[in-house]
Amino acid sequence: MLTEVKQKIAEACKDYWERSEDEITPLFETPKELSHGHLSLPVFQLAKTKRKAPPLIAKELTEKLLSLGLEELDKIEAVNGFVNFHCKTEYVMGLLFKAVKNQGDKLGYNERFKGKKVIIDYSSPNVAKPMHIGHLRATVIGQAIRNLAATQGYEVTGVNHLGDWGSQFGKLCFAYEKWGSEFDFDNDAFNSLYNLYVKFHDEAEKNPELEAKGAAYFKRLEDGDADMLSLWKKFIEISMADFEKNWARLGVKHDLVRGESFYNDRMQPIIDELEKKGLLVEDQGAMVVMMDDEKVPPCLIRKTDGATLYATRDLATADYRMDELKNDLNLYVVGQDQTLHFKQVFKVLEKLGRPWVKSCHHISFGMVRFKDMGKISSRKGNIIRFSDVLDKAIELVGKIVRAKNPDLENVDDVVEKVAVGAITFNDLVNDRVKNVEFDWDRALSFDGDSGPYVQYVYVRCASLLRKYGKEVDMKLESALESEDERALVRLLLDYPGVLQSAFDGFRPNVLANYLLEVCTAYNRFYHNHKILSGDPELVSTRMALVQSVKEVIGQGLGHLNIQVPDYM
Ligand code: ARG
Repeated sequence: MLTEVKQKIAEACKDYWERSEDEITPLFETPKELSHGHLSLPVFQLAKTKRKAPPLIAKELTEKLLSLGLEELDKIEAVNGFVNFHCKTEYVMGLLFKAVKNQGDKLGYNERFKGKKVIIDYSSPNVAKPMHIGHLRATVIGQAIRNLAATQGYEVTGVNHLGDWGSQFGKLCFAYEKWGSEFDFDNDAFNSLYNLYVKFHDEAEKNPELEAKGAAYFKRLEDGDADMLSLWKKFIEISMADFEKNWARLGVKHDLVRGESFYNDRMQPIIDELEKKGLLVEDQGAMVVMMDDEKVPPCLIRKTDGATLYATRDLATADYRMDELKNDLNLYVVGQDQTLHFKQVFKVLEKLGRPWVKSCHHISFGMVRFKDMGKISSRKGNIIRFSDVLDKAIELVGKIVRAKNPDLENVDDVVEKVAVGAITFNDLVNDRVKNVEFDWDRALSFDGDSGPYVQYVYVRCASLLRKYGKEVDMKLESALESEDERALVRLLLDYPGVLQSAFDGFRPNVLANYLLEVCTAYNRFYHNHKILSGDPELVSTRMALVQSVKEVIGQGLGHLNIQVPDYM
């Protein structure tokens, strides 16, 4: 929101600096402390070109700017190698209120990437296997990055790269024919499918000949045998129905499903091209592409039996996303256990001379570890299911909410929003590359650094606004001069910049942590003032500030895919 004043200052500096306004504007920083003002301009670069010490340059620049008397500013001071700018309180409050009033539910958006397209691959589970806790991370991080991309003007496509192809489908078809009737496909289709898959592996351990059966069935599937195809379709339908349930609970939606099977007839041209460019090498009967770095194993393109692989499909996928769908940016939100895979795929694309390979990024993330496994009943197969984590959260949040507020209306809706908020926020507040230690007490605490805590501040703003009982006039009627109020305003002004840097680093935790800071600043403000009593102009202005906090928290959580209840 301070763009205008940044531009004005840059304009005022440009002759002295001998740089254009557009080069100076991005240099502004937000000081950590309110006592250092609203904006800070480091002059180290300038000092180098002028061959003078930074503090000296900061002083010279400050004097020059002071002589111009910029009306938005209260104070300009040189501090070491920085020039700090303190804006007038009325000015910044006016900016904030105007933005909240005029930008509606697009507060803090900008159009930096207008006309550009990004495709984001996230969640992407595998047919016949339950979504596990790793997919939960891929889902919430992916959806948040997707929302953030939209705030920066991108046209976004969320794609589900469903794992719907590979030799395991031969095994499943075989197992279904042999043992299908032992399972309750009518009432519990998805678990039956998974149990069937587990059974195949158990049996194959005792009787290795089953592997050959699976392979023969897969060959039939690959050759387009109608019975096999219809079974395969059935498995996809059963699985998608289960995945859709999970996504619906989290409010996640893809725009496009392009499963791995979509690329079946798109791989041969790439294999031919690799061959023609002399990149394909034989390695113990298989076809591979060597990596330049000897420490990185070769990328496997075709197995000894001629079958293509996950990597081969990802080569075709990248071509499709960039050349056919014409995206400008291609993001894969996938766990760090696939780092090597993406390294190999991107390297092969580079060797193929794809000009856009630099715009493909693996957005990796760490693993989730549970502090207290006992709270989750881990079923057979020893995986922690996505749906079990949600169910458990709903059970625990239900107890807390009902104890706190026994007469709450729509309690199920509130519990669902708070539970999902708790799980999602707990995930996103961590730097994505780090492992997450999942601690139920921390995730669900209403007064710690948690989703429910942020939701609760929102609910309290909403309740204050209801008590006020009037439409809030987003006008500045009385400047709020106390330190906690000025600190809160300054923090809220940062919101657009936070959206921008959260997207640029693909780091939703930047936004999540910022919302925690807003909550702390709001609590201090709330604690120090009797907001609803006193001079009506003061009350009205304070309510405009409350409204601004409510918008930032509500919309900010929305970008993290967390909904807010009206009561809790
Ligand atoms: N299905 C994979 C898994 O569950 C994730 C797919 C990621 N996307 C991709 N284009 N490789 O591990």
